[in-house]
Amino acid sequence: MSVHTEIKRITTHILQEMKNRGEKISCLTAYDYSMARIVDAAGIDLILVGDSASNVMAGHETTLPITLDQMIYHASSVVKAVKRALVVVDIPFGSYQGNSSEALRSAIRIMKESGAHAVKMEGGAEIKESIIRVLSAGIPVMGHLGLTPQSIYKFGTYSVRAKEEEEANKLIADALLLQECGAFSIVLEKIPAKLTKLVSEKLHIPTVGIGAGADADGQILVVHDMLGINKEFKPRFLRRYADLDTIMHEAIAQYVQDVKAVDFPNTKESY
Ligand code: KIV
Repeated sequence: MSVHTEIKRITTHILQEMKNRGEKISCLTAYDYSMARIVDAAGIDLILVGDSASNVMAGHETTLPITLDQMIYHASSVVKAVKRALVVVDIPFGSYQGNSSEALRSAIRIMKESGAHAVKMEGGAEIKESIIRVLSAGIPVMGHLGLTPQSIYKFGTYSVRAKEEEEANKLIADALLLQECGAFSIVLEKIPAKLTKLVSEKLHIPTVGIGAGADADGQILVVHDMLGINKEFKPRFLRRYADLDTIMHEAIAQYVQDVKAVDFPNTKESY
């Protein structure tokens, strides 16, 4: 029997068991109640309320503008819909980099006000104190290495990270540090597949890849991208599982036509 049918609620311990027995972990983002309900019912193990909400939901160019209050709003909507998946929430830019007290305050607000199960933070050694402080309050932490979009102005580009030895070695050291601090999992974004394999073999905690090849212990995509709602975004790593842009466009165009033609509502649709 698969994990799907055996258990009611996914925990960080269950994700660890999945890695231990070689079962891949399925993850997607969600930012609102209706989408989270569908994603959860389909059997996803982990839902990330990503700060990609800044791009996908608010139309910003980067993840930097989204605020802690806005993340809590998205997260509490998701939590209300989810019965099975582990819900992880990004601590947004500017809410944890300052010092570890600020990180703890932000993480506690997310947990208390949204009801989520864990938080995610981008970075390695630079945010070690913050990670330790948040973990010491009993809040599970997911790390995020490789392409870290909150640092986009430092990188200057969304291209593949850690292709050179120096950056790859730093990533490996950061991954080991996050594990030692007590992170329950690490997202690896847009790094070479070979490096993902190496890191995933070195770590006992699960890795979750996006644009990082098949050897991560799990995979994550932004749900709007994989459903084809956001058609302009087409990186090589993205597999599109639906063309909702076309389906929604056609449905709405048909509705417009029906309203104009006084074909909607008909007598059966009226009281
Ligand atoms: O914000 C986000 O959606 C993320 C995933 C891409 C991992 O961090």
